[in-house]
Amino acid sequence: MKIGIVGGTGREGRGLAVRWAKAGHDVFIGSRQTDKGVAKAAEFANEFGVSLQGADNAAACNHAELIVVTVPYSAHRATFESIKDAVGEKIVVDITVPLQPPKVRSVNLPEGQAAALEARGYLPEGARLVAALHHISSEHLSDPNHAFDCDVLVCGDDKDARAEVISVISDLGLRGVDAGVLKNAIALESLTPVLLHINRRYKSVGSGVRITGIPETE
Ligand SMILES: NC(=O)c1ccc[n+]([C@@H]2O[C@H](COP(=O)([O-])OP(=O)(O)OC[C@H]3O[C@@H](n4cnc5c(N)ncnc54)[C@H](OP(=O)(O)O)[C@@H]3O)[C@@H](O)[C@H]2O)c1
Repeated sequence: MKIGIVGGTGREGRGLAVRWAKAGHDVFIGSRQTDKGVAKAAEFANEFGVSLQGADNAAACNHAELIVVTVPYSAHRATFESIKDAVGEKIVVDITVPLQPPKVRSVNLPEGQAAALEARGYLPEGARLVAALHHISSEHLSDPNHAFDCDVLVCGDDKDARAEVISVISDLGLRGVDAGVLKNAIALESLTPVLLHINRRYKSVGSGVRITGIPETE
């Protein structure tokens, strides 16, 4: 699949891009600056021995069948507004956690209750928005030898879009679990500060969540 990663030059973008490229997807990373997108794509390709492209965020969206937005909450609104005309009927995955530094271990409910609910308001009516990957650390994503033992909770109002995202998440080496409607992003985004607290308390890196009591495969 053609996957465009907006803000793909950053920590989460790097791990997602490399893992998806390794799995055979056609990955295009985007940046606010074309030169940075090109340079980071070349850097990741060289470092991990994968093939991927990069340029600006608009180019990443235009190239993609599936768009993933990986920017800090402080850049969330501006980024969504900058890409809204390029989205069309493509699925957009928002991984944003509305952290409020320096209090990143304490839940911060934004004005719209969840970044993903705010994102829905920035995109055209009917956009296929999914929220996921809030609990997956960039350190683990970027380590090709790391085997995950946690799940990815996936929410959104379009059931088929959730299923498509769960499918591409499996190519990261992760199990996606259908977590219902987009409003449930309030719970998913709120869990990340809890995990960040747990990491500090237990001196762990990238603690995660595992859903039990469901079939291993459907
Ligand atoms: N890091 C993690 O372990 C982790 C885990 C789960 C979820 N998340 C969530 O994933 C998202 C991305 O996290 P990250 O750690 O990858 O972020 P990051 O590395 O700090 O930033 C990602 C990219 O966003 C762009 N960006 C940064 N500041 C910006 C600004 N003020 N305006 C517009 N664009 C800006 C930059 O791209 P350009 O300069 O190239 O435009 C940057 O490379 C966040 O919402 C975070 O909550 C992170």
